Amino acid sequence: MAFSTRITDLLGIDLPIIQAPMAGSATPELAAAVGNAGGLGSLGVAMMSEAQLREAVDKTRALTNAPFNLNYFVHHEPDLAGFDAKPMRAALKPHYAEMGLGDVPDPKSPAPAFNDAALKLLLELSPKVASFHFGLPSPEAVKAIKAQGIIILGCATTSSEARVLEHGGVDAIVAQGHEAGGHRGTFLDHVDLGTVGTMALVPQVADMVKVPVIAAGGIGDARGIAAAFMLGADAVQLGTAYLVTPECMTHDMHRKALAELSDHGTVVTKLFSGRPARAIRNRMTESLHGHESNAAPFPAQRAMAAPLVTASAKAGRAEYMQMWSGQAARLSVAEPAGTKTTRLMAEAAILLGKN
Ligand SMILES: Cc1cc2nc3c(=O)[nH]c(=O)nc-3n(C[C@H](O)[C@H](O)[C@H](O)COP(=O)(O)O)c2cc1C
Repeated sequence: MAFSTRITDLLGIDLPIIQAPMAGSATPELAAAVGNAGGLGSLGVAMMSEAQLREAVDKTRALTNAPFNLNYFVHHEPDLAGFDAKPMRAALKPHYAEMGLGDVPDPKSPAPAFNDAALKLLLELSPKVASFHFGLPSPEAVKAIKAQGIIILGCATTSSEARVLEHGGVDAIVAQGHEAGGHRGTFLDHVDLGTVGTMALVPQVADMVKVPVIAAGGIGDARGIAAAFMLGADAVQLGTAYLVTPECMTHDMHRKALAELSDHGTVVTKLFSGRPARAIRNRMTESLHGHESNAAPFPAQRAMAAPLVTASAKAGRAEYMQMWSGQAARLSVAEPAGTKTTRLMAEAAILLGKN
């Protein structure tokens, strides 16, 4: 099936569908399956060590010759000197006690932000595509990545951010609506301003920039994909829809929660990482809701929440698990990632009168 757009031409792929980079969830098997089906597979590498990243890239290359995307977080290292951990520690303490855990750990970054070492490794690994969340790396880094021939995608949650990214040299823009699962990519303004829904965001971004636009957020089936194209997108990026594929590293309790989720079953919370991200509501998000403002700066909150999240997952109790999800989880069909990729695009092509 041919479905060519500015994005398929730019990336050298057959279908204008991108499997979202999902740190901790997307696997080489997932990225390769989507690539082999004609879309673009992605790996969220933000929390990976050098060894883990090398292994993931080797594995992906062993499974496919198709292009793939490596995705990085571009944030400022958290300033913990001025952060008072006491209120968050006190809020978490009874929950730690209930789960039989010891003291709440100090806030600490689990991994550095995109830095010179990460840039060097990216240039060496040289994927076809690199994407960035929370802004862009330095102009020098962008220049070096482009000089290597790597295509750069940036994520915008407002049309102002899209303009900044275009100015910064990106080749295409992911327009992430507020329905999206996982971290909000907002970087320019206060995150409360990055709450525009996909339906409103995509056409305004498409009007604002000349580079191709990739719609993301709440797209769960072919109707959403067709709608995104009608709104001016050149491709779509789906995360939650791929969480339920067998190739994705998704906990059984998370899969169960996704299958049962209603459209209002998610919330944007800082409690897991320190940065707003859309997750399935559970005891963590509801009983600690009043402590959102006490969260440690991203990503140091992770260290404070991690023992609770891990113990909950190990015990098969969804209460404290970190279960990212977009608002359209119920539309997701559990099926192999390759099948999903070709099926969704074939159905969207029919809706768009393209076949
Ligand atoms: C489990 C999960 C993890 C995610 N991790 C990342 C990530 O590491 N980097 C990133 O740029 N976006 C990440 N996202 C956001 C996606 O790129 C995308 O914006 C979102 O999935 C689109 O909305 P949808 O989930 O409704 O399809 C993640 C999303 C999910 C669901």
